[in-house]
Amino acid sequence: TETDKGTYPFYMLKEIDEQPIVLRNLITRYLPQNKEPQIGEGIIKDIKAADRLYIVAAGTSYNAGLVGARMFERWAGIPTEVHVSSEFAHDQPLLSEKPFFIFLSQSGETADSREVLQNINELGYKSLTLTNVEKSTLWREATYALPLIAGPEIAVASTKAYIAQITLQAILAYALADREQLDLDLEQELSKIAIAIQGIIDNKDALQKVANDMLVPSPNAFYIGRGVDSAVVLEDALKLKEVSYVQTEGFAAGELKHGTLALIEKDTPVIAIMTQPSLAGLVRGNLAETEARGSKTFTIVTKSIAKPEDDLILPDINELLTPLVSVVPAQLLAYYTSLGRGLDVDHPRNLAKSVTVQ
Ligand code: G6P
Repeated sequence: TETDKGTYPFYMLKEIDEQPIVLRNLITRYLPQNKEPQIGEGIIKDIKAADRLYIVAAGTSYNAGLVGARMFERWAGIPTEVHVSSEFAHDQPLLSEKPFFIFLSQSGETADSREVLQNINELGYKSLTLTNVEKSTLWREATYALPLIAGPEIAVASTKAYIAQITLQAILAYALADREQLDLDLEQELSKIAIAIQGIIDNKDALQKVANDMLVPSPNAFYIGRGVDSAVVLEDALKLKEVSYVQTEGFAAGELKHGTLALIEKDTPVIAIMTQPSLAGLVRGNLAETEARGSKTFTIVTKSIAKPEDDLILPDINELLTPLVSVVPAQLLAYYTSLGRGLDVDHPRNLAKSVTVQ
């Protein structure tokens, strides 16, 4: 059955492996060949009438929102803000004249996000929930809802829901964009991405080795990147810390020199994501600063900007869609680090799959 882990030792690995299928299912459902994206007229009309999008979410869903926001802005030309729901609920920012809200939630039950939805419903604003659980609270209480159709996600650490949330936001941004102007065939690009993800999964043994050599023995680790990679590294770091207990930070590479560089010692793991050709040179410079202090580095780089010394090469894809591919090695590194430390990968201490308290 869908909720059976079969021959997998842990759900997290099963759910990582399912990601190419999750992508294909989303393409089939929302981007049928030779047809308009299947989003629903009401949603498109109401978002087009808005002057600003507010994405509200928690945890991994918030990290997915940081990626989606860039697509709403650059593809569809709609100013977009991303907010942590526990903050927005009690410290609401000044809203634009015609806001539209997008709630991202794997479970559809996160209490902090529910509170924000209640508040904005009272104010009479419209909203759309993207969730993996149909008929959940956030599904029912929003004006509109679209399913992530990722299948049940059981492991506490979210993987395939992140992929599904980014993909569905991409489809939505694409549906809102002037597609004549946009040099992108999203269906084709997402199909390429499904193959690229499969390629990483097929070579997972190499990542197990990296995890065992570099991360299992380390008390801490850092992920760095610029542009959209500065958003992905937040998810990369969250994944590693939550399942392995290695204290991990992910941040914009340019910020290293403003504090974190002080933590770099001999053998400190620093993982750099470089998918943006215009920014790779700068990230390499930041990485070199850590190497000069003895860091152990690992680079995840797209093909056109790769150098012989790079560690993991990803195919070239649309820049804003690279998170769908670049997050996968980080998910596997997190998984294998947890495994290598002998932990219960699916049930990290102190955490819950769905947090229904504030
Ligand atoms: C919990 C889970 C995370 C998840 C977050 C938000 O902390 O452990 O994996 O990202 O809640 O959950 P949601 O269901 O709203 O996406």
